[in-house]
Amino acid sequence: MLELNHVTKKYKDFTAVKDISLNVKSGERFGLLGPNGAGKSTMVSMISTVLRPTAGTITVDHKPLSGKPREIKKIMGIVPQDLALYQALSTKDNLEFFGSLYGLYGSRLKSRTEEVLDIIGLKERRNQAVSELSGGMKRRVNIGAALMNDPKLLVLDEPTVGIDPQSRHHILETVKKLNQDRGMTVIYTSHYMEEVEYLCKRLAIIDHGSLIALGSKEELKLNLKACDTLTVDYSEGNEAALGQLEQISGVTKATVEGKHISMLVSTGERSVIDIVDDIRNLGIRLTGFKYEEMNLESLFLQITGKALREE
Ligand SMILES: Nc1ncnc2c1ncn2[C@@H]1O[C@H](COP(=O)(O)OP(=O)(O)OP(=O)(O)O)[C@@H](O)[C@H]1O
Ligand SMILES: [Mg+2]
Repeated sequence: MLELNHVTKKYKDFTAVKDISLNVKSGERFGLLGPNGAGKSTMVSMISTVLRPTAGTITVDHKPLSGKPREIKKIMGIVPQDLALYQALSTKDNLEFFGSLYGLYGSRLKSRTEEVLDIIGLKERRNQAVSELSGGMKRRVNIGAALMNDPKLLVLDEPTVGIDPQSRHHILETVKKLNQDRGMTVIYTSHYMEEVEYLCKRLAIIDHGSLIALGSKEELKLNLKACDTLTVDYSEGNEAALGQLEQISGVTKATVEGKHISMLVSTGERSVIDIVDDIRNLGIRLTGFKYEEMNLESLFLQITGKALREE
């Protein structure tokens, strides 16, 4: 559905996007994850043809964006990071305005507006000026504008930043439903790990304009030596036994502190229970254990050495 081939974007001397190649398949929910200034919005602007790449090519539905953007624009819905709405106009009038930009008119425009009001859950706010809506509701109208066209490809640039949990939940569920029910391809840009983790099967992690990881969460995990953490408490165990922990298959690193052992483990070929059995077979008497699967947050930390957000 979308293909980026060695795409680079420079703003004068500054390179905001560096040689990025990736591919999003039809019907996929794809996450674009990166911290502030990573280059996410620049990528979205290039996909939406607002910006031209300095080098490289982008194709949507096998058609190069440099060719006939008009035809391609018809199948894309872009939700920009900054709100692009008329504050003085009502929710309904905003949607109708964007619908008319896509060439809808008359009864088709009216019925599509009703459908979209329903999708974004703002039917009862149809006649209220956008300026009077909450931040989260404005975001939903912003998404609605991109949906007027019933796009095959929906690109959302950080649609949930700074909004209330209820609207956030509504947006995530709506995006998921659009993908599941209508097969809409979704590109979801965020710096919220948990959102991408919840919503997307595959993801790209970008940092300082470069692609640093690409694949499913499971694939990304496989590329790292150890991903999960296993911490155990023990009551008995001699030093020789404790020294052998790192020899257990699946254990990459073991740190003993008092009666507490932290281990980095990769459970690709073995289960946690196998590892726990091996520890006990060394003569270490366990009193408890905790296993934590790696999440995207710790994945990012391992790859870049930096946390995604400072919170
Ligand atoms: N018009 C511009 N001229 C010069 N530099 C720019 C311009 N637009 C963006 N940049 C720079 O390019 C880099 C990437 O910006 P971009 O907005 O794409 O990041 P982002 O990943 O969307 O960040 P955020 O999460 O804060 O939205 C930043 O360092 C930014 O300052
Ligand atoms: Mg941005």
